[in-house]
Amino acid sequence: MAKNTTICDTDAWNYMSTKTFNQSEYFAQPSKNPARMKPVAHFFSIFSHMKRSEFLKTTAAITAAGMIPPLSSAAGEASPVIRFAHLSDIHVKPGLVPETGMAKALQHAQQQKDIAFIMNGGDAIFDALEVDKEGTRTQFDLFNNILKKENSLPVYHCIGNHDVWGWFIKENKPDQDRLYGKIWVVEELGMKKRYYSFSKDTWHFIVLDSTQLNPNGGYIGKVDDEQLEWLKQEVESHKDKFICIISHIPVLSICAGLFFEKNEPNGDLIIQRNLMHTDFLLLKKIFLQYPNIKVCISGHIHLQDEVEYLGIKYFCNGAVSGGWWKGVFREFGPAYAVMELYPDGQVQRTMFSYE
Ligand SMILES: [Fe+2]
Repeated sequence: MAKNTTICDTDAWNYMSTKTFNQSEYFAQPSKNPARMKPVAHFFSIFSHMKRSEFLKTTAAITAAGMIPPLSSAAGEASPVIRFAHLSDIHVKPGLVPETGMAKALQHAQQQKDIAFIMNGGDAIFDALEVDKEGTRTQFDLFNNILKKENSLPVYHCIGNHDVWGWFIKENKPDQDRLYGKIWVVEELGMKKRYYSFSKDTWHFIVLDSTQLNPNGGYIGKVDDEQLEWLKQEVESHKDKFICIISHIPVLSICAGLFFEKNEPNGDLIIQRNLMHTDFLLLKKIFLQYPNIKVCISGHIHLQDEVEYLGIKYFCNGAVSGGWWKGVFREFGPAYAVMELYPDGQVQRTMFSYE
């Protein structure tokens, strides 16, 4: 695959289509991490003024000295304050399988206990990047109609790369059309802005727009300068809350390096610029200053992983469409996540197969 092409574009799809999948073998398993950090609420408040680097060192020293319980010992004692369903990469398009699949996933998520809202993780529609106005209109109408019919919960939306209209249309490029780019998806889904935030209880949610047009071709995973300044202000002004960051492209992920399931000829395993945030090192510097940032969730890769790095959990939550509605992709079938956020900053993810 050429370096600047889009994930799950025609080439990627052709690549995937060469695989034989056995969907019946797939059952998503709840994620369990016995080593999850379990600081009690007052412990967090004592250390809330610290930078993350100081916090991590101090936590390790105190734990080693036996002054607080081992990090995993308090598991399961508290109840989550917020439980929400994260449905990413629905990729709806006309057809029985995608349409009924989206409806089933929504129904399944609403049957879970105490779901406060649905988070659409992006790539709501199959593709707008290379599709003309009429085809894009059809897909957005379908998405909104199914959502209206099958869902009664509040919904928050995050932009995925395939929700952006027209960037890769080669002939009669609609770049003079008012709806070109991200404006259409923002308006269509009733988003406040392409990136935004909201608070619930003791948690603050930051929804990023992580797809940027690459001047050298294709797109690149990162936040733009304007969004970066906003993000800095957001975290600085919400130090009193735990923070959950939602992006379509993973901020940090190992499955981003496994999407193509191959090594380079020299043995390198590469994470492409369109598969993970290329500005991770910059974001990490910001995150280190705020120990209240607890979790980042994403989709995009259609695989599932769970990475814990410097006190933050990064979850890549698979795809409702699985292998773009053709069954399982690698080891992962169609699925969505239920995220449970606790009053003391802990997080639990459970993946569900909805079929
Ligand atoms: Fe996708």
